[in-house]
Formats: sequence, structure tokens, C-alpha cells
Amino acid sequence: MALPKINPTTTEAWKNLKNHLDKTQETHLRELFKENPNRGPEFTIAWNDFLVDYSKNRITAETLELLLDLAQEVGLDEGIKNYFGGDEINQTEGRAVLHTALRANKDAEILVDGINVVPEVYEVRKKIKRFSEDIITGKSKGFTGKAFTDVVNIGIGGSDLGPAMVTEALKFYGSHLKTHFVSNVDGDHVHEILKHLDPETTLFVVVSKTFTTQETLSNAITIKKWFLRFASEADIAKHFAAVSTNAQKIDEFGIADENVFPMWDWVGGRFSLWSAVGLSIALAIGYEGFESLLDGAQEMDDHFKQTPFRENIPVVLGLLSVWYNNFYGAETEAIIPYTQYLNRFSAYLQQGIMESNGKSVDRAGNRANYETGTIIWGEPGTNSQHAFFQLIHQGTKLIPTDFIGFKESLHGDVDHHQKLMANFFAQTEALMNGKTTAEVNQELQEQGVSQDQLAKLSPFKVFEGNKPTNTILINKLTPKSLGALIALYEHKIFVQGLVWNIFSYDQWGVELGKQLAKNILQDIKDSEIGNHDSSTLHLLQYFKK
Ligand code: F6P
Repeated sequence: MALPKINPTTTEAWKNLKNHLDKTQETHLRELFKENPNRGPEFTIAWNDFLVDYSKNRITAETLELLLDLAQEVGLDEGIKNYFGGDEINQTEGRAVLHTALRANKDAEILVDGINVVPEVYEVRKKIKRFSEDIITGKSKGFTGKAFTDVVNIGIGGSDLGPAMVTEALKFYGSHLKTHFVSNVDGDHVHEILKHLDPETTLFVVVSKTFTTQETLSNAITIKKWFLRFASEADIAKHFAAVSTNAQKIDEFGIADENVFPMWDWVGGRFSLWSAVGLSIALAIGYEGFESLLDGAQEMDDHFKQTPFRENIPVVLGLLSVWYNNFYGAETEAIIPYTQYLNRFSAYLQQGIMESNGKSVDRAGNRANYETGTIIWGEPGTNSQHAFFQLIHQGTKLIPTDFIGFKESLHGDVDHHQKLMANFFAQTEALMNGKTTAEVNQELQEQGVSQDQLAKLSPFKVFEGNKPTNTILINKLTPKSLGALIALYEHKIFVQGLVWNIFSYDQWGVELGKQLAKNILQDIKDSEIGNHDSSTLHLLQYFKK
């Protein structure tokens, strides 16, 4: 069944939320905490090794009720069944959306066109296991008989960001293999990486769902040419693997059948790290680690499918995001992980969230008369505190922020971890409470500042506070907890897209630029430049001079 096509603004809940906003928006978070001393634990969801505290949001118990009414009215319940059941919810491409099938239990039955896809998924997993173990243990060797030392993932977008983020996040658990990621069509990217590689000991994994992406093919061809300066055509079979739905194109490229890993059109690129697209993850952390990542995601899938909405982490976080986006007019959300290992996490989520929900036409084909996708950004703490936190604290914009932290550090340096986490907790407390004029004045008086100076300085030192945050506190960064964390955000994307009545799983918006680039490439190569606006024409003439 297709997803419902309900304009959320026509629901009773939407109207009630608007009225509710009028009544509550002047209430400061400080007051809400004063009114209810148990607010923290009451607005917290504990699940497995996750503790999600959403109490520092501009909501009351009634707000939550109304948001849950909204979820009910737009048919979230039914939508989740359609999503997991393999219905063609990616309607504009006529496809199911089944990244969840990639981590389903072996005995699950998930039908696509009447065929259970789970056995095929497990076949590919077996192949990933064998292939990665042979490379890691040195059973598979390079063309001169040496064991592999380096792996280069050649891909872009979903065929790059997921594996790159996860291998970085889990490098503590890493095998001896060094992983590299080539994505940009900018030749400086590939050449800079090649500079450090030994062709005798490097494995190349070309990842492209379509195998038609300009960046990936250009990089793969450049790398193949570089490799052939040292080795023969026959050696390609030992050094190149590919992941794609496009068997014919892989064959044309010359990659040996046994090194080809299939993909399915029911897996979107930005949700594909759970498939063979994650081959470089299995190589980097070992197959067991890759499997734990999938297990963690699968547990989050069960949580999302089975838990009543009030206790359901992706549902609650998704609805809160709708609350700020559509009722408070917040444009962006920041995601701040307090671990250096997650330094690619926001970049990864930018694709997941913005490519999915950056849509302005609703599921009925009408222009949406309300805001949709949020802008996502962020960097790890504490570095980000010394970069852009000023704006979150004292700027004019409302920026709901997710803080992600871990109880245990991986290297076990207690002193560092206590300092890191002190900052983690301090930031959300400061953002919520702020600092009042009275507090600022008292502080200045205690410092012996003159009355005159105090009057001048005080306004600049006041923090309004009332800035919303979610705290996601996890026991430890492991393959399993990371899998669950990624799946949490995947399902949050679904919740928001469902409420906004948009198709979250296509990405037509990236096509126009690709088409124009093809024409312009011709203009750059040819002596004549075709028809363009005066700005583009002038720029092209200048570039070619
Ligand atoms: O241009 C966007 C996009 O289609 C993404 O959705 C996708 O992840 C990326 O390009 C790469 O595509 P492919 O895996 O087919 O090379």
C-alpha cells in the first residue's frame, strides 16, 4: 500500500498545536523545570544502552500529546507497516524502501514482487564475510604475492559517506588495513591519495549503485590506469572489487565476477551502508564488527516497529523536530557528537536527512504550503564549542541541537573523559538555563566592577537560555551502538517525511545540475560555447581564456 496523502496542516492536531503554541511560547524552559522537579526523568526514554533525555525542549506534557495526535492523524502507524513491509513507498521511482531488510533476522520473510529477499541478503553477507576475511588474514594476495595493506573505496554520496563515516567512527576496532576514500571528481583528491599507495598491496573497491556516476567512474578509470602502469590487465582481478546493481557496466569495466557484489534497487544510496556498500567497513573492522553494526540497527528497527509512540525514540525525536520546524520556524538543527570518532557523523546525516526530506511537492503532487526538510549541520564537541557555539547561545536564531555522548571512552583515559563529559552536560544546562540579568549583575558585583561599568557590560553578558536540546547518552561507542544510532536517525527521517506528506526516498533535485554539467563539459572541451545566460557565458569565457 502507498503511504497516506494527508496534508498535515488540515488535521485537527495541527490546529490544536498552533493554538497551543500561542499559549505556551512565552514560557521559559527554566519555569518548566521549576514547575516540575521530576521533569528530567519524566521526559526521558531509556532503551537498551541508550538514554534519551528530551526534557530540555520547549514542550509540556500537552505538547507531546498533541504531537502524538498529529502522528495518529497522518497515519504514522500504517506508514511504518508499509515501510517495513516492502510496499512501494518510493512511489516516484516505483520502488520499495527496504534498507531494514539488510539487517533483518535470517528467518524473516520480506517480499518484493512476491519474492522473499532475505535469503539473497544473507548470501551476499556470506560473500562479504569470505571476501573480507581472506583479505584481512592475507589469504588473498596482491599481484606480487604480498598481503594487502590498504583499501580504497571509490564512490560518492551514499556510496562514500556511510562507509567513510563508519570506518572513521569505529577505527578503534580496526583491522590492520588502512582505508582511504576517493569521492570528488576533483583530480587532486584521487592523485593525493594515490601518492601514498603501493599498487602491490592496495585493494580498490568501486562502489556505485548505478555505475553511471561521473565522479566514481572518472576516479575508477584514473585509478585503473595508474594501476596498469605497474601491473597487467590480468592482475585487475586480484585488486579490484565492485558493488553495484549494474552488472553489465561492471563487466565492461573488467572486474572479475567473483569480486562483484550485488545491490538492489530497493536500497537507497544514502541508506546502503548495511549492504555490500559497507564492504570497506567489513574490511576495516572485520566481518564480526560489521555484523554487530547490523545487529544494532536491527534492534533499533524492532524498537521503532514495536514501541508505543510515546516511548518510541525515532517517533518522539521526529515529532519534536516537526514542532520546531513548523511551529517555531526553526530552519536548522545541529548534531554535536561528543567523541572525535564521530567527526563525519553530521556530514553523513546531511545526505540522509537533506536528500530525503528536502522536497517541496507533497505526495499528492501539490506544492507544500508549509516548511519541510531541516538544514543539518554540526561538528564534534568540544571543538565546536570554540567555533560556532557562540551563535547557538547568544545569536538570534533558534537551533534545536542533539548532543550525543558516551558514558565510557574507548581508550579509557578517565581524566580526559570526565572533562569531555563535563562540557557535554554543561552545554545543555547552559543552553537551557541561560544567565539572567540578575545573575550577571551579581557576578559582576562580586568581581568588584563599578556600577557604571556594570550597566555597560551587563546586557552583553546575559544569556537568554531557553534553547532546546536532546541528550542522547549511550554506554559506549561500539559497532552495535553505532548501528542503533544510525538507524535511529534513519527512522526519524521516515517519521518527518511521513508527517510532511512528501516522498523521502527519491532525489530528483540532484539531477538538473548533473545534466547541465554534461552540457558545460562539452562547452569546455569544444572551441565554441553554447547558449547560456550572460553570467554563465562570461564565466566560461574567462575560465577558457
Ligand atoms: O547524486 C545523488 C546520488 O544519486 C545519491 O543519492 C547517491 O548516493 C550518489 O548519487 C551516488 O550514486 P551511485 O551509488 O549510483 O554512484
